[in-house]
Amino acid sequence: MLDDLNQLESEGLAALDTAADAGALEAWRITYLGSKGRLKGAMSGMKDVPKEQKGAVGKRANEVKAALELAFEAKKAAIGTGGRASGPALDITEPGLVESRHVGRSHIITRVIDELTEVFGRMGFAVAEGPELEDDEHNFIKLNIPPEHPARDPIDNFYVDDPEKVTTPRMLRSQTSTVQIRTMEDAVAKGWGPPIKIVSPGRVYRPDTVDATHSFMFHQIEGLYIDRGVTMIDLKTTLFQFARAYFGPDADIRLRPSFFPFTEPSAELDMMIALKPGAEPAWIELGGCGMVDPAVLEVCGIDPEVWTGFAFGFGIERIAMGRYGIPDIRMLFENDVRFLAQL
Ligand code: DAH
Repeated sequence: MLDDLNQLESEGLAALDTAADAGALEAWRITYLGSKGRLKGAMSGMKDVPKEQKGAVGKRANEVKAALELAFEAKKAAIGTGGRASGPALDITEPGLVESRHVGRSHIITRVIDELTEVFGRMGFAVAEGPELEDDEHNFIKLNIPPEHPARDPIDNFYVDDPEKVTTPRMLRSQTSTVQIRTMEDAVAKGWGPPIKIVSPGRVYRPDTVDATHSFMFHQIEGLYIDRGVTMIDLKTTLFQFARAYFGPDADIRLRPSFFPFTEPSAELDMMIALKPGAEPAWIELGGCGMVDPAVLEVCGIDPEVWTGFAFGFGIERIAMGRYGIPDIRMLFENDVRFLAQL
């Protein structure tokens, strides 16, 4: 019996040495230490051991059991019970995980706004801002747009419920011309102007049906220059220089007589640009412009006998589409990174 135990110990330890992974280790445990394993088998022979030897044999059996268990625990710790030992071997020749990292960037509209304010900045225009939630005083009344004017139709504007019940109706601004009024009022109230020379980019809202060239939200950039002796020639020169600086040496502009309540005279501004890369340049209507109506200057507290000024307002999406050859305005708002990443 003692010989059997000694043999069990040496065989068990030798077999344990050859167990290389978690599977082999478990098989070994079942063979040697399991409930039907060899150690249990040897123990069951105890009943046949003569009484006087029982003490020595029992002691030896306990030693063998402890030795095998200890060796098993040590081996288990060395192999680790985790997946790697039982999973596929690690291939150290495999190239590292190639993960493409997306570099973040500004949206194309934000970039065009930055470019525009930079070009106008070089011509001396500061950047002014105004609220998107406006009142009809700044969006219409002070811009010389009277209550019966069709532009004020609720069908063409996003009026806003007003729980605070301020005196004039509130709305999402439909044009950045609001900022002309706010800037003139601010300049007069705080005494920093005129002269005033600002551009103001921002969002505007109109309940238009969405199609390739319309959206219920889009961006405009407004310009306002008020000084002594400003004329239509200054307006045309500024717009021409802008077109050349932004669209390149072949760009051209054209003013067509038009009407806006806040300018007199007023004009529609077209620019000769290519809407698709490589396409023939064509006249694209970008917005309106004109000489600030004396009534608008007056309502803002500026003496029209002393000061004159011009103003303009363009659609920024039109410019972005012209500059980057984008055929559909909806592409600018779908936020499909496959499209945006190309710009
Ligand atoms: N606010 C006009 C529009 O949204 C565009 C415009 C026309 C702006 C003439 C101006 C201007 O500053 O002088 O259609």
